[in-house]
Amino acid sequence: MSGSCGAQLMVKVFSGLVGFQLYFLNRSFILEIKRKRKMRIRNKYRKPTTFPCNAGSRCSMSTVVWSLVGFLLMLHIYSLASHRDGASGEVQLRKSPHLLFRELEEVEEENIQIPPPRGKRSPRAAKRRPKRTTTLIDEFLDENSQLRHVFFPDMKTAIDPVKDNGNDSFYYYPGRIWLDTEGAPIQSHGGGMLYDQRSRTYYWYGEYKDGPTYHAHKKGPARVDVIGVSCYSSKDLWTWKNEGIVLAAEETNETHDLHKSNVLERPKVIYNENTGKYVMWMHMDDCNYTKAAVGVAISDYPTGPFDYLYSKRPHGFDSRDMTIFKDDDGVAYLIYSTDDNSDLHIGPLTADYLDVTDVVRRILVGQHREAPALFKFEGTYYMVTSGCSGWAPNEAIIHAAESIMGPWEIMGNPCIGGNKIFRLTTFFAQSTYVIPVPGLPGSFIFMADRWNPADLRDSRYVWLPLIVGGPADRPLEYNFGFPLWSRVSIYWHKKWRLPPRWSF
Ligand code: DGJ
Repeated sequence: MSGSCGAQLMVKVFSGLVGFQLYFLNRSFILEIKRKRKMRIRNKYRKPTTFPCNAGSRCSMSTVVWSLVGFLLMLHIYSLASHRDGASGEVQLRKSPHLLFRELEEVEEENIQIPPPRGKRSPRAAKRRPKRTTTLIDEFLDENSQLRHVFFPDMKTAIDPVKDNGNDSFYYYPGRIWLDTEGAPIQSHGGGMLYDQRSRTYYWYGEYKDGPTYHAHKKGPARVDVIGVSCYSSKDLWTWKNEGIVLAAEETNETHDLHKSNVLERPKVIYNENTGKYVMWMHMDDCNYTKAAVGVAISDYPTGPFDYLYSKRPHGFDSRDMTIFKDDDGVAYLIYSTDDNSDLHIGPLTADYLDVTDVVRRILVGQHREAPALFKFEGTYYMVTSGCSGWAPNEAIIHAAESIMGPWEIMGNPCIGGNKIFRLTTFFAQSTYVIPVPGLPGSFIFMADRWNPADLRDSRYVWLPLIVGGPADRPLEYNFGFPLWSRVSIYWHKKWRLPPRWSF
């Protein structure tokens, strides 16, 4: 190590230490701001515009000034001890208190070489038209790409939890075909997870897409006729038993919402303690995505069958990608992309979870986000969303809020590792759900879909560790630019598993 490198390192380490000291010194002040903001938001659901010092309370000017100075120092020092290595631009190892998850925070790089264009070109042709350069995204979208096996590995590499896997047991291989206990590829796309306390079992619901892909119109998106909502059960989140189609398509009645020619996407199920019913919400549409509604179904059992109740435009607005979220107090919320996908709406469901109430807030206004996946940690709400680019992958963004009704702030791209294109495409996948790992606070599994628009039934699952911890690295809009929340990181791994000592 050269002298200047050593000195730089010393400065960084020292800055980091001072930064953390200041961080903790100011933490109580931050918590106070958070508490006041929470109360104000709860009362008004409104963007704060004033300094959080009640008009009637005595607020010493010097305390305020010194705290602000502390904040500014802290921010400055954080930027010095930045997470990025200036020379390589690569993301460095991040530490978290979750010892069991620590090895999953190691940054794994991907070095994929883009193949040269195929076929020989005559010198004259080469002169006329310069060599076409392709990007990794072009390769991903090209079903004849020589890199196809990288994004969509074939059956030979399938994960088969039933066979004797030896040391490979419980390992997730994002993007590989994943077999159920009968040896068939799992069909549960755009899915969500229910942990059923009563049976201590995980239930994975999703779109069963095992049919031919076609275009209803020349310019329409690729589609598969609706077959229904699948359900798989597991005790260990790795071995999945097919519980069958729990909400089936309608074959003959063309006017029925569930008619196979329509669209049924992103089903999610929650349990209602008051009624003892399992309630499913999903995106219901026609093949042109103009109906833009939600559908609701209900069952006495997690494994169905579910009875379809109705569809509607929630709060009278168009609704496309959606999810539901059940909070610790039992109140559940519907979150959906609306206003032609420019905004999202969020609002509580009725006590029986069968409808929305009149309360709704517009969030992520003008941000054009979809595929929302919500989770909560230490009283803060987080949401991963994708951009809107059909079946093609794009950059994920993480949002955070003190109140689920907003305001929601942008915290940036949570993806770490792989390479730049991997991070800008959410590892060639799109968010669908985030599973809390019980017993490991702050540790989650990020569930995403790697869509295969040429053959949608062959879309893959990208499950990766998601960890909340460490200081956020982006100034925020509504908090005087200060990062009040922990960073959310999704780490790329070719293979990974939950910590062996994790108890199911
Ligand atoms: C993106 C959405 O997230 C998917 O659920 C699906 O609706 C596709 N668009 C269709 O192009």
